[in-house]
Amino acid sequence: MDTSDFKIEAARTALGHVEDGMRLGIGTGTTANEFVKLLAEKVADGLRVVGVPTSERTASLCVQLGVPLATLDEMPRLDLAIDGTDEVDPHLNLIKGGGGALLREKIVAAASSRMIVIADETKLVGTLGAFPLPIEINRFGRRATELAIQSAARGVGLSCDLRLREMRDGEAFVTDGGHFILDASFGRIPDPRALSAALHAIPGVVEHGIFLGLAGIAIIAGKDGVKTLHPIPEEGA
Ligand code: A5P
Repeated sequence: MDTSDFKIEAARTALGHVEDGMRLGIGTGTTANEFVKLLAEKVADGLRVVGVPTSERTASLCVQLGVPLATLDEMPRLDLAIDGTDEVDPHLNLIKGGGGALLREKIVAAASSRMIVIADETKLVGTLGAFPLPIEINRFGRRATELAIQSAARGVGLSCDLRLREMRDGEAFVTDGGHFILDASFGRIPDPRALSAALHAIPGVVEHGIFLGLAGIAIIAGKDGVKTLHPIPEEGA
């Protein structure tokens, strides 16, 4: 078994939480894709669900495989969101956005009664931050926003390297919402709550990939099997 098998096992376990008639938020990325494939098999067998996809890519896969979709405007409250992650800590705080879909992922997760995170064991970390934090920014005034991010980071005792996300052809990556992404390498983010608040205070920041208190459980698959993790409460939270 390797990482791709673990993603499938996590997705399969998450499917056990899906009930007939549910309104689902459907995540983005390679792990979420495995979930869509398994969900599509159940739909073909008669399971009735409607999904709100968190990206155009996920929407295409769902359409291709016959998973019924609605927009979040048509279905603004969801029962369950299932999504992958780039990092998950013991409090089930997350870093997401490696696939560039963090804004819609966060909107969908917040509109859902529950969020289940699915991942292979490489995503489990003691402290967030080894994975560069994706920060979605407005295209206007990029340099000013970069300076503001660096200043906000210093304000919470951190420093970071910022890199504009580019595609293979060297063109800037543009999100489904029409924004740029800066990947911010902090190394370690000991207080994600403080960094989140500091980034949210910057006008040019549309959203960032720190997900706090959204995930209800994390289903982590690895060489010792599949584990369901519940959040360890944070001191003072
Ligand atoms: C998409 O923007 C991300 O938040 C993904 O959920 C995250 O990058 C995990 O992707 P993989 O499942 O491909 O590792």
